[in-house]
Amino acid sequence: MTTNHPTPLPHFPALAVLSARQLQRSFGAVVAAADVSLDIAAGERLCLIGSNGAGKTTFVNMITGYLKPSAGQIFLAGEDITALTPREITRLGVARSFQIPQLCLHLSVLDNLLAALHCNRGSRHFFRSARDAASLAQCADLLARFGLAAHAQRMVRELPGGIRKLLDIAMALTGQPRVLLLDEPTSGVSADEKFSTMDTVMQAIESRNGEAPVAVLFVEHDMDIMQRYATRVAAFYSGRVIADGPPRDVLNDSDVQRYVTGSAHHASGASA
Ligand SMILES: Nc1ncnc2c1ncn2[C@@H]1O[C@H](COP(=O)(O)OP(=O)(O)OP(=O)(O)O)[C@@H](O)[C@H]1O
Ligand SMILES: [Mg+2]
Repeated sequence: MTTNHPTPLPHFPALAVLSARQLQRSFGAVVAAADVSLDIAAGERLCLIGSNGAGKTTFVNMITGYLKPSAGQIFLAGEDITALTPREITRLGVARSFQIPQLCLHLSVLDNLLAALHCNRGSRHFFRSARDAASLAQCADLLARFGLAAHAQRMVRELPGGIRKLLDIAMALTGQPRVLLLDEPTSGVSADEKFSTMDTVMQAIESRNGEAPVAVLFVEHDMDIMQRYATRVAAFYSGRVIADGPPRDVLNDSDVQRYVTGSAHHASGASA
């Protein structure tokens, strides 16, 4: 008699909410993910750094189901989500914002938020039910937390990049995620607004009443932003994670200095 033993699950650190195991993905001869394994815990702020083309967005796209790895697995709280669609993954609590915000330019800020809210709920009758009191209250709360209340009725096409970024991230939070992935939240934001944008985002994420702490994974090129807001850093180079640890340790790593930051950048005293 043969006994079917279930395939043993990989080992996860006790607190990991999201675990990637040995992800691989190529585009022709370009290896965008060679063997990427990462865990992220609730409440952690993991920053992905790496030069252009290092594989950061590819990693985010694989986690969120937009791109399927050719090998490897992704687990959310121990459940294998590798084969699920982006919509199914979002419903399970993994939300994202995009390197270029995905907004309806000819709708108002409020209508973009309402649309995201109803998409995340899987509403079938969006235009009939969109403006119910509960939805409007949830949007009002998000608009206030993101400092967007004054812009609620404005068309997105009239708004500057920083406001669009905030709206895109607020839309990702309508699904009340356990994991939030932000692909370059400060790109397209003017240099003097980057810190205030990130302050707003981090405060908005932390001020979620009564909800479990969300794990935040963000991609960032600015090392000063990274040091201020990350609790941990993973450095990518050529589809691999070449360093993973506290910001100061990663910035002082010789491979990171050689392949990511250039030798000039050293850790400052500031780490969140
Ligand atoms: N859909 C695609 N088709 C072909 N090549 C792709 C595709 N997506 C990514 N690549 C390639 O894979 C590599 C990794 O790209 P990726 O977008 O993940 O880099 P990145 O680290 O996000 O870079 P950046 O900092 O410029 O956003 C690059 O060489 C890129 O050109
Ligand atoms: Mg990218």
